[in-house]
Amino acid sequence: MLKKNILLGITGGIAAYKAAIIVRLLIKLGCNVKVVLSEKAKHFITPLTLATLSKNPILVDFFDPENGSWNSHVDLGLWADAYIIAPATANSLSKMALGVADNLLLTTYLSARCPVFFAPTMDLDMYKHPATQKNINTLIERGNICIEAQSGELASGLEGKGRMAEPDTIVRKITDFFEAKLDFLNKNVLITAGPTYEHIDPVRFIGNYSSGKMGFAIAQEFANRGANVTLVSGPVNISTINNNINRIDVTSANEMYEQAEKHFHNANIAVFAAAVADYMPVIQADEKIKKSSENFTLQLKKTPDIAKLLGEIKRNDQINVGFALETNDEVVNAKEKLIKKNFDFVVLNSLKDEGAGFNHDTNKITIISNNAKPIMYPLKSKQQVAVDIVNNIFKKITSIQNGQK
Ligand code: C5P
Repeated sequence: MLKKNILLGITGGIAAYKAAIIVRLLIKLGCNVKVVLSEKAKHFITPLTLATLSKNPILVDFFDPENGSWNSHVDLGLWADAYIIAPATANSLSKMALGVADNLLLTTYLSARCPVFFAPTMDLDMYKHPATQKNINTLIERGNICIEAQSGELASGLEGKGRMAEPDTIVRKITDFFEAKLDFLNKNVLITAGPTYEHIDPVRFIGNYSSGKMGFAIAQEFANRGANVTLVSGPVNISTINNNINRIDVTSANEMYEQAEKHFHNANIAVFAAAVADYMPVIQADEKIKKSSENFTLQLKKTPDIAKLLGEIKRNDQINVGFALETNDEVVNAKEKLIKKNFDFVVLNSLKDEGAGFNHDTNKITIISNNAKPIMYPLKSKQQVAVDIVNNIFKKITSIQNGQK
C-alpha cells in the first residue's frame, strides 16, 4: 500500500481519458487523490467521472464560481506528497518550463515542494520538435521526473513516439520512487560540475563547452537516494530545486578549488565532474585589453588540479571518482589519470562516440578501475548514466566495507 497524498494534474490531451485509470489504481493503493484539471482537459474527461473515482471535488479554477470558495494552489502544493501531471501536453510542458502561471494546475506546479512527475503526450512531430525536447530537458534538469512517452499508434493515426505511458507504468514509477532505497542516507557527497571561466579582462574569458548536465544529474541521483550533496558548479544554465542539494556557484578554477577543498574534509564521496580549465591568464586585466599590435600573446599558467590536490589528502574512508574525456588512447589515458589523481574509479567518455560528452543530453561511458575489467555501458540519457555511476560507487563502498580494496 502506497498511502500517499497524490495530486493529479490533467491537461488537455486525448490521453486524459486514461487519467481515470490512474486515479483508480492510486485509490486501490490506499492513496488520497485530488485532481486538478486544466480548462481544456474538461473536453476530454468529465469532472464527474474523476470526482466519483477520487472521492474528492475536482479543481479547475482558483475559486468556485458558485460559492466563491478559494482553491489555494499553495495549500494543494503543500498537501501533496507527489504531483503527477498526466497527460502533460506540449503546451503545458512549455508553460511549466517557463514558469507561466495562468491556471490552477500551473500555479500549483510552481508552488509544489513535493516531487513532480510528468507524462508527456502529443503527436510524434511535436514530441520530436527541439522546442518540446528543450522543455522536457529543462524540467528534468530541474529535478522533475519524466515518465517517458511510448512509441505506437497515435490519435492522429500516425505511428511514432508520443503516446502517454500506460497508467500502470505511471503508477509503478511513483511506487518505485517512494519505495526506492535511501542507500546514501547521511552520506556527504561533494560534486564539482560545469566549466570554469578564467578571466582575461572584464569582457573576455577562457572557458569550454561543458553544460554541467552530467554533474547535475549525479547530484540529483545522490540527493534522491538520501545523500547530503554539496554541488560546486561553474557557470551553467541549469536550475536546481532539491532540499538535499547545497549548490555553490563559482566562476574560476581557483574559486572552485577553494570551495571544493572547504567541503572535501567532511565528504564521504567526491565526484569530480567539472571540466576545469587547465590554464588561466598570468595577468588578469582590470580594463578591457585594446586591439593594437598584429600579434598578441596571452601568457598562461596552470590552474590548480582540484582532483589531484584533493586526491593527495584523501583518507582511506573517502571515495574519489573522476572523469576522463579523451580523444585517443582512451583506456591508457584514463588509467594514468586513475593513478595520478588517486581516483577509486574513472568515468571515461570518448569524444569519438556520437552523443557522448559535452553539451549532449546523452552519454556513453566506460568505468575504469584498478582491479577490475573496464565496464562498458551503452548510450543512455545522462540521468540513467548517473544511476550507473552512483550504483558503482555503492558497490565500491560495499567492497571497502567487506575489506577488499
Ligand atoms: O587531467 P584531466 O583534466 O583530463 O582530468 C579530468 C579529471 O580531473 C576530471 O575528473 C576533472 O573534474 C578533474 N580536474 C580537476 N581540476 C583540474 C583539472 C581536472 O578537478 N584543474
